Amino acid sequence: MSNHMWQIIKTFLPIFSKHKWWTILYFVLTIIIVALSVAQPYFYKEAIDGFINIFQKTDSALIPTHLAILGWFIASYGNNILSALKGWLFWDIYGNPAYIQMLKDQYNKILHLDIREFIDRKHGELLKLVDNATDALVSINNFIFDELLTPVLSFIVLLVFAWNYSWQLTLASLAIIPFHALLAWYSYRKSEQYAKKSRTAWNKIFGRIGDTFNNIITTKSFHGEPYEFSEVSNLSLVAYQHQSKTNRIWTFFDFFDVNTFAFVTIIVIGYFLLLDQQITVGTLLMFGNIINRILAPINLLMKSIKNFQTHIIKFKQLSEITDQTPQIISPVDGYKKSTIVGSIVLRNVNFGYKEDKAAVKNINLTIHPGEKIALIGHSGSGKSTLALLLMRFYDVSSGEILLDNIDLRKWDYDNLRSHFGVVWQENMLFHDTLINNIRYGKQDANLEEVTEVAKKAHAHEFINELRQKYDSLVGERGVKLSGGEKQRVAIARAMIKNPEIVILDEATSALDSKTEQLVQKGIENLIKDRTAIIIAHRLSTVQHCDKIVVLEKGNILAVGKHQELVKTCPTYNEMVQLQSHGFLNE
Ligand SMILES: Nc1ncnc2c1ncn2[C@@H]1O[C@H](COP(=O)(O)OP(=O)(O)OP(=O)(O)O)[C@@H](O)[C@H]1O
Ligand SMILES: [Mg+2]
Repeated sequence: MSNHMWQIIKTFLPIFSKHKWWTILYFVLTIIIVALSVAQPYFYKEAIDGFINIFQKTDSALIPTHLAILGWFIASYGNNILSALKGWLFWDIYGNPAYIQMLKDQYNKILHLDIREFIDRKHGELLKLVDNATDALVSINNFIFDELLTPVLSFIVLLVFAWNYSWQLTLASLAIIPFHALLAWYSYRKSEQYAKKSRTAWNKIFGRIGDTFNNIITTKSFHGEPYEFSEVSNLSLVAYQHQSKTNRIWTFFDFFDVNTFAFVTIIVIGYFLLLDQQITVGTLLMFGNIINRILAPINLLMKSIKNFQTHIIKFKQLSEITDQTPQIISPVDGYKKSTIVGSIVLRNVNFGYKEDKAAVKNINLTIHPGEKIALIGHSGSGKSTLALLLMRFYDVSSGEILLDNIDLRKWDYDNLRSHFGVVWQENMLFHDTLINNIRYGKQDANLEEVTEVAKKAHAHEFINELRQKYDSLVGERGVKLSGGEKQRVAIARAMIKNPEIVILDEATSALDSKTEQLVQKGIENLIKDRTAIIIAHRLSTVQHCDKIVVLEKGNILAVGKHQELVKTCPTYNEMVQLQSHGFLNE
């Protein structure tokens, strides 16, 4: 716990040093509040003893009674006002900006995780983890620096103050603390496993909800609503059951009331001290009055342990992901080039997503600048995997891939990717306008440039017919557009980047012949004068390529031109034979 706790506290320190003057003011206010919280019981004691003196007609009080009452009033009310001011200052200067800063930090870490981390996880779950961790970080820091700081300082000062009046009563006030701490520790350990399970169940719930929203068309077409609902209901029952167990343990803990125990101890011991005339009535009542404040930080801490437990689990669950060092990292002083020739060499390349299962095996391939290469093969033969390796989404397990004769691992990561334009198998579009989707490839592009590439990609025709043209919104993941339209938008997006190398992972979905022609023309414009790697399912795309690479189960089976392969490669020939209406059967 302490390691994570320190990690959490550390996130807050830079925010303090950033606002030096506010921080000084904040601590000055804290010190005044602490001083007032000691002045309060002092005036209280003086007033009580003053009253008794008046009653007994003796006159041994240090200050007149009416001044003591006025002092008590000012100290109490001043404390209240300054505490409110301090609270406002804390939230405005530290709390809210810290929340934003932490959200940004977490998001930035997540954005730079390896692609593997995203593929292996439900996005809703990640989202929930970020939300949880940000909340947890801010809550813990606010607790420590705002809620706890003043009571802890007051605790120290009040102890010294109280000790001066009666060391016996001071010790009596603290006697109960070890028992309370022991009980807190026991409850923490006992409930930890349930709290963890409950949090995990909550994360799964949001993972599931996110997944359902992403696949809402599938859910609805298969009448999946009742199933999805019952999945989330079941998960929430699990979360509830574990939460309940945690709560039961902490309820038992809450039975324990430190203040009452301490109060009884003080009264009993105080009674004997009074009899012995070691203390005044004012002192005894003052102890009764300050016991709450002496024990306040202990009470606060103990009561917050349950929340701490949840917060630390929340933080831990995200940091287990974000603290991983990405495997794909940019080398220090990696190669950067504004333009490249566009030659690619793969030498004895092996790679598997899992260690025991190779996805591509012993690949040797040279792609010359400007060449158009088609990768073909049955589903699962490793075509998309090769494309991902070329852009260094994963590192090869063995062998090497060279771009312009330089190993990919020596390139500056961002620069490397700036030379590629891609159209992936599933054309993911953002829930944004068409213009923003296209200029994602070049963020400062103006409408003219966007229109120009859209024309070349043959997307302009259908966009121009939309009521809001380029400002029309695309639904999440592009669902408002047809398959062929999405492809053409994706082609325009790759084209506006003006890359030297193009990777095209053709969608397998069948397009009607007119759309097919438009997409084909778009592709031709995209790959013109560029090195192109085309994962093709349609023979119309493949035939004109300089080289066709036939993959089977991760191996290169044959390389050649269409006419050659028909004669020399039985697998390719079989694919051609099986092809009907212009598509390769899978
Ligand atoms: N993220 C992943 N984790 C584990 N295995 C994967 C992952 N992605 C792909 N695979 C596996 O790697 C192999 C190659 O997959 P790949 O996606 O490269 O095939 P493909 O040739 O592109 O197929 P398709 O034509 O269907 O798109 C397959 O056995 C696949 O199951
Ligand atoms: Mg694929």
